[in-house]
Amino acid sequence: MEQIFGDRWKVGGRLGAGVSGDLFLVEDLTGEHSGPCVLKSASNASGGRRVAREIVALGRLCHPGIVPMLDHAPIKKPCAPPYLVLPLASGGALGDPARLRAFKNKPRKIVAVALQIATALVVVHEAEIVHRDVSLQNILCHGPQGEVWLADFGLCLFRLDHRAGEVIETAKPRAFAQDVYGLGKVIEALKEGCVCQETAPLDRLLATMICPLPARLQSMRQVAAALAAI
Ligand SMILES: Nc1ncnc2c1ncn2[C@@H]1O[C@H](COP(=O)(O)OP(=O)(O)OP(=O)(O)O)[C@@H](O)[C@H]1O
Ligand SMILES: [Mg+2]
Repeated sequence: MEQIFGDRWKVGGRLGAGVSGDLFLVEDLTGEHSGPCVLKSASNASGGRRVAREIVALGRLCHPGIVPMLDHAPIKKPCAPPYLVLPLASGGALGDPARLRAFKNKPRKIVAVALQIATALVVVHEAEIVHRDVSLQNILCHGPQGEVWLADFGLCLFRLDHRAGEVIETAKPRAFAQDVYGLGKVIEALKEGCVCQETAPLDRLLATMICPLPARLQSMRQVAAALAAI
């Protein structure tokens, strides 16, 4: 039987399943969005909370390095299941093996992708949101020049308690350094297998990202500036 969400999003297939629920490939019956899209639909109560949190976060964020949200289920009304809609990232996740291979011995490419994510995270942090799940699988590749989107805000925390929908968790100021660590682990994974000398500046930066809190860079602005200087 044909499945349609919000009288608009027609399911054409299944892209996969995550902790939050199912990911479907969908088509916009209104014609507003002509390309293929992805609908993330919660499949249980905890997935529902994650999707609701993601809807609030993405609704506040607009940046070329952050996945744009095209539509979502109404969050104030009980709706089963909550869902959100994103454009399909044609290159999939940065953690896909074929993607990772493209970074071997390419420190400039690693710096370029890390700088995009750091710049996006500056905007996320300025909006008082901590992502908390920065990882290779939550970075989506979508452009011909290596453009990426930061995605999956299902675990994020809000610095201030806006009482928006289900979102009531708050983050302490030092929690922002979690994303510094997360991005450090992403850079480390991209760098794995590099045998060229040019990774030395990245190694020095990593020592200030993947380390215990007192020594860790506390601000994503510092990380972005350091990456831009490499
Ligand atoms: N817009 C998209 N375009 C292409 N692939 C996507 C898109 N959104 C998600 N994916 C793929 O689906 C995977 C899971 O998506 P996401 O991380 O948003 O879901 P999740 O339910 O939070 O799951 P997980 O626990 O696996 O992180 C991503 O790692 C990525 O491979
Ligand atoms: Mg994910």
